[in-house]
Amino acid sequence: FQTGVLDGLRVTITAGPTREAIDPVRYISNHSSGKMGYALAEACAEAGARVTLISGPTQLPTPAHVTRIDINSAQDLLAAALEQPGDIFIGAAAVADYRPQSIAQQKLKKQGDATDEMTLQLVRNPDIIATMASLSNAPFCVGFAAETENLLAYARSKLTRKKLKLVIANDVSRTDIGFNSDENAVTLVTASGEETLNTRSKRQLARDLVARIADAYQQDRAK
Ligand code: PMT
Repeated sequence: FQTGVLDGLRVTITAGPTREAIDPVRYISNHSSGKMGYALAEACAEAGARVTLISGPTQLPTPAHVTRIDINSAQDLLAAALEQPGDIFIGAAAVADYRPQSIAQQKLKKQGDATDEMTLQLVRNPDIIATMASLSNAPFCVGFAAETENLLAYARSKLTRKKLKLVIANDVSRTDIGFNSDENAVTLVTASGEETLNTRSKRQLARDLVARIADAYQQDRAK
């Protein structure tokens, strides 16, 4: 039995990469390991929440007291999220913005000689967190912004454009933090201000983020 700042709340967290199939053996993906999202799931469960972790393919064990739903594509992720919106929705997954327009039924084969070129037609994926934040009964939505430049400006534009309550801005141009590292440093961006949490383990950062997310959630509900 646990008590804490998220007691009795349902929290849904997305984590890891998505895989967008090209053919039966190939896909488009990214470097997300899932570590940040899994650390958040663990910290939310420790804080007393009922946690659903919607996870792309990762190598990580499921944290204790967390219900995990495995997905591959962004479209699968959206379907799972709509079934479990939670009271608080945290989007830590690195969702592919585009997917191949069609998935080849058979393995694609090389054509012609060595000068042959291939073009993949891509179409936009749904924006999962923006969809969740626009529901009539929307959960309290917390997004990440993974950027290699103009970090805070892009984070702030995601806050308003996607109708998020809080954006966790992540500088992914650095190799010591962000994708696949054990540590991270972020800036929290809200409508009223910014707060920087400098480098620490993702596990510790997750606990520090959960305290702030719980605060922001309670303040929002009190409005
Ligand atoms: O998994 P790790 O190796 O631990 O790395 C952690 C991380 C760098 C992946 C993580 O901290 C992080 O920043 N995750 C968000 C990555 C991302 O896709 O950022 P974005 O700026 O492209 O997206 C902004 C927000 O919209 C995110 O909350 C994302 O989950 C969400 N999104 C994006 C696209 C899309 N189609 N649907 C979404 O819901």
